[in-house]
Amino acid sequence: MFNRALPSIGFGTWAWGNKFLWGYNSKNDDALLEETFNEAVNRGLNFIDTADSYGTGQLRGRSEELLGQFINKLTPAKSKNLIVATKLAPYPWRIGRKGFYSAFIASKERLQGKLDRVQLHWSTYRYAPWQEVQLMEGLCDFLESGDVSEIGVSNMGPNRLRWFHNRLSKRGIALKSLQIQFSLLSPEPHKHLDICDACNQLNIELLAYSPLAFGLLAIPPIEEKVQSTTLIRGNLFRRLLPSSIGLRKELHKIAVRRGRSQAQVALNWCRAHKAMPIVGLRNPIQAKDASDACKWHLTSNEKEALDIASQNCKMRMPNNPFQSI
Ligand SMILES: NC(=O)c1ccc[n+]([C@@H]2O[C@H](COP(=O)([O-])OP(=O)(O)OC[C@H]3O[C@@H](n4cnc5c(N)ncnc54)[C@H](OP(=O)(O)O)[C@@H]3O)[C@@H](O)[C@H]2O)c1
Repeated sequence: MFNRALPSIGFGTWAWGNKFLWGYNSKNDDALLEETFNEAVNRGLNFIDTADSYGTGQLRGRSEELLGQFINKLTPAKSKNLIVATKLAPYPWRIGRKGFYSAFIASKERLQGKLDRVQLHWSTYRYAPWQEVQLMEGLCDFLESGDVSEIGVSNMGPNRLRWFHNRLSKRGIALKSLQIQFSLLSPEPHKHLDICDACNQLNIELLAYSPLAFGLLAIPPIEEKVQSTTLIRGNLFRRLLPSSIGLRKELHKIAVRRGRSQAQVALNWCRAHKAMPIVGLRNPIQAKDASDACKWHLTSNEKEALDIASQNCKMRMPNNPFQSI
């Protein structure tokens, strides 16, 4: 039986307009991205994550711009069903309670008005804790004025999350979500439990970003050669492929037994931890695959076997340097 308590699956748009890490090939890729977007939406994936820093070698917000264009072509009934969440970057020049004001207006314009949730992209706790306090107050102002209906944070650890939760509760405001890197290969697996507990206790949605470790978790254990990709991603894969073989064998075993893809197994591991994976989709086949993952779930034995295989993997994805405690 399908467990209704499990979170659904969303998708992210980091790759849109990002040449260096994801090999986005200018406007040639846009038609495929639109097809992918439509496939995902038609199959019921209704949560979309973007950011004002995505697609912005030159800080031009390409990802939000494309998303706005694609959404604008949907029927009103379809677009109404979507939850579009952007993230605003706490660049050093964005300071004070109004520090996000013009960035917020610009994002909303690029998204052609469809913006439901705004998130702080990363925590500045390690180098400028006062900055994020002011910026978060500014996000609450957008909420109170009705310019957006939900606010969230990203790259924040459980301590800082609890601190913000308390502070914002005094203003009568609830944080909707926390977004962190969360996958079978994400860094510091021993901290997973803390973060899941904090979100559960505070009733905050946990969004798992890079749930496939940039796609590495979908690579079968027999394949040890890195397929053509960008230099940065290729180097990372060359480093992580040999050490993740045991984990990928376990993923593969479950995938074969269940008649599912390895990617679906990895996404459902996030869901089994009550986190909603937001997966980076590059083509309609991947969109279909992600939506198929919503139709089943792991057994507790499968989840445990994957937990163990994950913990045995010593080489991990790189840590986000801004992730706070
Ligand atoms: N808050 C933050 O700081 C932060 C940081 C990172 C990401 N994010 C969010 O999280 C989203 C997803 O993370 P991500 O894009 O970094 O990584 P990811 O979802 O772990 O990996 C994306 C890659 O996985 C591959 N893939 C996707 N579906 C697949 C399938 N069904 N089968 C096989 N391969 C599949 C694709 O590889 P190919 O390219 O080879 O097709 C895709 O490029 C981002 O788009 C962004 O919205 C947030």
